[in-house]
Amino acid sequence: MGAPPVSATRMRNAMKQLIQQLTETFGPSGYEDAVRDLVRSEIAGLADSVTVDPMGNLIAIRKGRGRGGRKVALAAHMDEIGLIVSHIDARGFARVTNVGGVRPLYAAGNRVRFTNGAIGAIGVESRRDNPNHIPTLTDLYVDFGVSRAADVPVRVGDVGGFVGAFVELSGNRLMSKSMDDRIGVAILIETMRRLKNSPHEIAFMFTVQEELGLRGAGPAAFTFEPEIVLAVDVTATGDTPNGTRMAVALGDGAAIKAKDTGLLVDPRLRDLLVKRATDARIPYQLEVLEGGRTDAAEMQLTRGGAIAGCISIPCRYVHAPCEVVDLGDVEACVNLLVATLSKPIEL
Ligand code: CO
Ligand code: ZN
Repeated sequence: MGAPPVSATRMRNAMKQLIQQLTETFGPSGYEDAVRDLVRSEIAGLADSVTVDPMGNLIAIRKGRGRGGRKVALAAHMDEIGLIVSHIDARGFARVTNVGGVRPLYAAGNRVRFTNGAIGAIGVESRRDNPNHIPTLTDLYVDFGVSRAADVPVRVGDVGGFVGAFVELSGNRLMSKSMDDRIGVAILIETMRRLKNSPHEIAFMFTVQEELGLRGAGPAAFTFEPEIVLAVDVTATGDTPNGTRMAVALGDGAAIKAKDTGLLVDPRLRDLLVKRATDARIPYQLEVLEGGRTDAAEMQLTRGGAIAGCISIPCRYVHAPCEVVDLGDVEACVNLLVATLSKPIEL
């Protein structure tokens, strides 16, 4: 007799706890160290090898068992967007520029924490001359509560990440900073736990610097030399007031990508994912994202090229410190990965 079955509730609670730990960890692009340490401890014993490459990508490889296996790379990025100090003015306000796709409207009024732990308020210069002016990065400043440049606790080049605590909303929806893409990181970890047997040699790649332009994934894939690549990352939704016009909605299941700005998903791989979801009764939706890219775009173009696809987690307010995802969608993504990877992939 084996161990008693883990109840669905206990599994959900463990998953929520992991998501909270991952999202609340500091990790702007290039400063993924704390996230990497956390991932490394979570996946201990779950891989045949774990390495960190020169850029900082964490690559956990599982050897395949049985026949019909292929080399498959999965990628979720560890980094989050942030701010970097560009200069400090005489009155002690730090001026900043972006690390990745910061939206000034989303940043204003929030808090930012720097590598040394210093926290500041993000203010916006007022434009009395043009009340309709939409804030830009150059309008933003960080206020540490000091009055002189000499008292500012950060220096030029210091990097900060947004503050946005994890909160459980009703209906199994979760809100936090950095759901992009710690939710993908959590899905990869959970997949490693649940995938008992696979014919494939799988590289679980926890990548760096995605938000700066998919910089880590290409080199990581080059080293592994995959035949098939899949990114696991968030996508936008079309279900908010006057929101983006797109078919994806929160709670409607794993989003199987068809296209985004950087990738036309190989139709053979897209159709296989749809078939696996249908066969296993996993809720899914098809996704076309008109503004955004994932690590799959770079992994596809490595070496002689790879068959590329992407499983997306629907997420509201992407790049705001209050990103919202649905736990049911998260579970659908894990189930879809496990269903796809436990069988041979014939395309
Ligand atoms: Co992003
Ligand atoms: Zn992302």
